[in-house]
Amino acid sequence: MTNDLEALAHSTEADLAAAADLRALDAVRVAALGKNGALTALLKGLGAVPAEARRERGAALNAVKQRIEAALDARRATLEAAALDAKLLAEKQDMSLPPRPIPQGSIHPINRTIEELTAIFGAMGFSAVEGPDIESDWYNFGALNIPDHHPARQDQDTFYLPGLGADGRPLVLRTQTSPLQVRTMLGQEPPIRIIAPGRTYRADHDATHSPMFHQVEGLVIDRGITLGHLKGCLTDFLRAFFGISNLPVRFRSSYFPFTEPSMEVDIGWNRKTGELGAGGDWLEILGSGMVHPRVLANCGIDAREWQGFAFGMGIERITMLKHGIADLRPFYEGDTRWLAHYASSPLTPASLHEGV
Ligand code: DAH
Repeated sequence: MTNDLEALAHSTEADLAAAADLRALDAVRVAALGKNGALTALLKGLGAVPAEARRERGAALNAVKQRIEAALDARRATLEAAALDAKLLAEKQDMSLPPRPIPQGSIHPINRTIEELTAIFGAMGFSAVEGPDIESDWYNFGALNIPDHHPARQDQDTFYLPGLGADGRPLVLRTQTSPLQVRTMLGQEPPIRIIAPGRTYRADHDATHSPMFHQVEGLVIDRGITLGHLKGCLTDFLRAFFGISNLPVRFRSSYFPFTEPSMEVDIGWNRKTGELGAGGDWLEILGSGMVHPRVLANCGIDAREWQGFAFGMGIERITMLKHGIADLRPFYEGDTRWLAHYASSPLTPASLHEGV
């Protein structure tokens, strides 16, 4: 091989060895083999070589070309492998790092209680219904045998709204879930078994009262319904909800305009410790009674054929008792520390308790 070719091969190999990346490698390739490359120029000059030397010169040029191409391929393979290594190293994941915590939503205790109520009454054949927060005073009071100027209207610290309802009566924020009794009886034929959980409103605000709170209403209308059904149903519910199979339950005569007779229901507890089910003290927990014949008549139901019972209770109250929550206000504050403690996992179903 002639000296000029050996020198070219040698310097190209040196340049290849020095090429630090694929771009530099390509520049070396172009300098040697490109359109204006050094070797290309020599190949073009082959025509000018005297005929007797041309064959040997041609073979030598080919040999150098192959040598340079082989060196190029080898260096390219090395650089590609190095580039891949660098890429993999840059993308490396440390599998031993603990995962970032994924924030998980939770179920507010009010909603959890509503889920539990719905499950327990659902197992007894009740379905859950909902109604509007804004009612005309006929649904909230009149139809429930609380006529204008009845003292029970003052008791309830009603929020009146401007304007009139479709029935020409004043609009109120419902003070109780009892209007759902009226809506259900007007909307469907008996037999009826419903519960109606939802928001209620009264102009009252302190540690134990909130202007917005929740109640659940219950209504059963059927033939031959007696006080015995009411007592059995509510006793079963309270024992299931609080998870105490022998929870003492007491029915105490009372007064509500929409029921006759009316009864308040107490459960046994220990006033000093707050423990439920023992201790010999009584705690009032809900209102109930046999649906007043006048309410049935207001809703177009013949009281000689159909009877029923109704009940209503505060959802915050039973939730506080069940979980030992002392203050009402945190229910509405959205404090995540409180929620982390009292809210429950969405993955835990609202199950029926044993001992029903
Ligand atoms: N609505 C009553 C209240 O807010 C609770 C109540 C008592 C509902 C007796 C009833 C019932 O359905 O029969 O205090």
